[in-house]
Amino acid sequence: MDLNSLFSLQDKVAIITGSSKGIGFSIAHFFAAAGAKVVLNSRNQTHLNEAVATLRGRGYEVTGFAHHIGYQEQRKLLIEATVKKYGKIDILVNNAAVSPIFAPIHEYEMGVMDKIIDVNLKAPYELSQLCFPHLKKSTASAIINISSIGAISPERGLGLYSISKAALISMTKVFAKEWGDFNIRVNAICPGVIKTQFSKGLWSDEKIHEHIMKNLPLQRLGNEEEIAAMALFLASEASSYTTGAVFTSDGGYSI
Ligand SMILES: NC(=O)c1ccc[n+]([C@@H]2O[C@H](COP(=O)([O-])OP(=O)(O)OC[C@H]3O[C@@H](n4cnc5c(N)ncnc54)[C@H](OP(=O)(O)O)[C@@H]3O)[C@@H](O)[C@H]2O)c1
Repeated sequence: MDLNSLFSLQDKVAIITGSSKGIGFSIAHFFAAAGAKVVLNSRNQTHLNEAVATLRGRGYEVTGFAHHIGYQEQRKLLIEATVKKYGKIDILVNNAAVSPIFAPIHEYEMGVMDKIIDVNLKAPYELSQLCFPHLKKSTASAIINISSIGAISPERGLGLYSISKAALISMTKVFAKEWGDFNIRVNAICPGVIKTQFSKGLWSDEKIHEHIMKNLPLQRLGNEEEIAAMALFLASEASSYTTGAVFTSDGGYSI
């Protein structure tokens, strides 16, 4: 192994869903800095343009495609646009997710379940399928699914979200097993509480914040870059013998 290029993504093409901000944006930044051509994605075109402009301003090769990955047609458009722009796909990061309500499990309506399953589960599944013909042509392809520690130990009030993230771990293992034949590696990351807009309901509530801190060996919330660093490991040669694995990055919360 060449230690100088262990974490390099030179000449790779990566798609990162939900990357106009938060963890996805940080992953896009790290991948671009490692030499990849990166496709950013989110629903809001204005936010996406800002994210792309920020990374281009740092000299990186990035593009933004605004698509709602909860819709089948939009997923196809995202993959088609990527291939049209860069001619190939080596890395897919299934990062975008929703957690629309905080409520006891018996209060969820089926419409909410549909929304959560469409974005958190059907999208990673179909995007992986759509990328398959391209990933199998790559010499070093990888899929990274962003799950959650809620998949391992669910929190009250986040029931359906936790169910979707647990299924994403199962999906990671299923794809890793079947696509090992094609040398496509598939791994999952389970972040703990990372200080983004997504988790604001947790860290901005004094009582919940206190409860989290009591169970947090490292005694602080995580930041986006700590997840991006793990994603870079899983996308690069550094993890070439790792597939079907589930990594927590949670300050020890799930111990
Ligand atoms: N933050 C945490 O504490 C934490 C903990 C465990 C797991 N995670 C997981 O980490 C991932 C990223 O979370 P985050 O905290 O970085 O969230 P975030 O800061 O809220 O960012 C979410 C990103 O996803 C995009 N997005 C949302 N729905 C989308 C859709 N249907 N189609 C395309 N893009 C969409 C958003 O942009 P638009 O709104 O413009 O679409 C935004 O760019 C998620 O999978 C989440 O479950 C986060």
